[in-house]
Amino acid sequence: MHPNISTLLTGAKVIPVLVIEDAADALPLAQCLVDNGLPILEITLRSEAALQAIETIASKVEGAKVGVGSILTEVQLNEAQSAGGQFGVSPGVSQKLLQALEMSDWPFLLPGAGSLSEMLTLRDAGFTQQKLFPAAVLGGVSMLKSVAGPVSDIEFCPTGGIKPENAEEFLSQPNVFAIGGTWIAPLDLVRAKDWAEIGRRAAEASKLGV
Ligand code: 3PG
Repeated sequence: MHPNISTLLTGAKVIPVLVIEDAADALPLAQCLVDNGLPILEITLRSEAALQAIETIASKVEGAKVGVGSILTEVQLNEAQSAGGQFGVSPGVSQKLLQALEMSDWPFLLPGAGSLSEMLTLRDAGFTQQKLFPAAVLGGVSMLKSVAGPVSDIEFCPTGGIKPENAEEFLSQPNVFAIGGTWIAPLDLVRAKDWAEIGRRAAEASKLGV
């Protein structure tokens, strides 16, 4: 059985998904999110600076719990762990990645699924908490309601298309334990180093689902 992400979340309901292009932004961005009530972060491997950003945040931002997102391969899995990432997230899982996860003792807490077959494949591998991606495109809340019967022991963190307008509705589903998304710190605000607006969005998001 894989470790459960709920133990790490300790009640947190919102995971900001971050793309950090400039490693110098890592510290102020993460500090701003933690200070405004969002300590669980998903830093995607979708930029050159991602690994350096993960290292910086993991070593310098007290209270931050650094997840590494967009992990697609074993190489990235190892890089995420070496950089000091505390847990792994993926949008989906290939057979190869699943094999690598079996061999690894690093907590890969949030593998992604987008269909019932993928949910069951992950369930067979011991993952009962999964990222539902891309949640809105898959039908959003209707999809979550539809799978709640057949796979009643799986809980989801939907991401992809979550916004302040639909966040509460997602969080009110019994099979949703958290939500994630880029709306709190989108790329344009990070590029503009608009920590005030990101902090405002984080503070608002930290009140969701509580
Ligand atoms: C992710 O990697 O989880 C997504 O990019 C989040 O999707 P969003 O941009 O629609 O929030």
